[in-house]
Amino acid sequence: MKDIIVAIDGYSSSGKSTMARQLARAVGYTYIDSGAMYRAVTLYAMRNGMVRSDGSIDVEALERVLPGLGIEFRVLKPGESAHMFLNGEDVEREIRSLEVSAHVSPVAKLPQVRNALTAIMRGYGRVGRIVMDGRDIGTTVFPDAEMKIFVNASAQERARRRYRELLDKGEQVDYDAVLANIIERDDIDVNRAESPLRKADDAIMLDNGSMTPDEQLRWLLAKFHSIADA
Ligand code: DC
Repeated sequence: MKDIIVAIDGYSSSGKSTMARQLARAVGYTYIDSGAMYRAVTLYAMRNGMVRSDGSIDVEALERVLPGLGIEFRVLKPGESAHMFLNGEDVEREIRSLEVSAHVSPVAKLPQVRNALTAIMRGYGRVGRIVMDGRDIGTTVFPDAEMKIFVNASAQERARRRYRELLDKGEQVDYDAVLANIIERDDIDVNRAESPLRKADDAIMLDNGSMTPDEQLRWLLAKFHSIADA
C-alpha cells in the first residue's frame, strides 16, 4: 500500500471535517484541520488588538508577530483528534466560537498569513499519510495530492448543521446570524485573490446531502483503496 495525501476541500460547514476525520481514523492516517490554523491566528489577532472595531485587521502588526507564533496540533488522548494549541495554550474550543468565525475570513485573505500556514501544512505532508481538509488543499497546498475530494452542499443545509453544532456546545446563537455568516464567508472564500476556494480539476465532487454518513465513509474508503492499493 502506498502512503498518500488526501485533500478534502469545500465550503464552510459542508461536513468535510467529519468526513476527513472518519476517513483518517479508518485508514490509520493523521487528520489535519487546516481551518483550525487560520482560526488560531485570528484568535491571536483578536486577543491582541489587531482586529479593529470595524472588523478590519492591523495587517502590519499581525505580519510582524506571525513568524514567532506557535501554531501546532497536539494529540491529547491516543485515538482522539488533535487539539489546536496557540503559543502552548489549548484553544480548541475557543477557535470554534461565532466571534472567531466572524473575523477569520479577512485574516485568511492575507497572503503573508496564507504563506506562513501553507509552509507549516506542507511540513505535515512531507511524510504523507495525512487527510487534510480546507479550501485550497487540492489546489495550492498539495496540488499533487493523490486523492482530492471537493464537497458540495447548499448554504441553508450547512447553516442548519452549524446552528445545531453551536447549540449542542451551549452557545447562544440565532439561525439567521449563522446563515448570514456562512453566506458572507462563502463570498470571501470564493472571491479572494489569494488561493480562492475552487474545485481542483482533478478533484472528485461529492454532494454531501445525498448520502448518509455510513454511505459516505464506504464511498471514501473505496476511492482511497483504489488509489493507495494500486
Ligand atoms: O473550515 P473552517 O470554517 O474552520 O475554516 C475557517 C476559515 O479559514 C474559513 O473562513 C476559510 C479559511 N480557510 C482557508 O482560507 N484555507 C484553508 N485551507 C482552510 C480554511
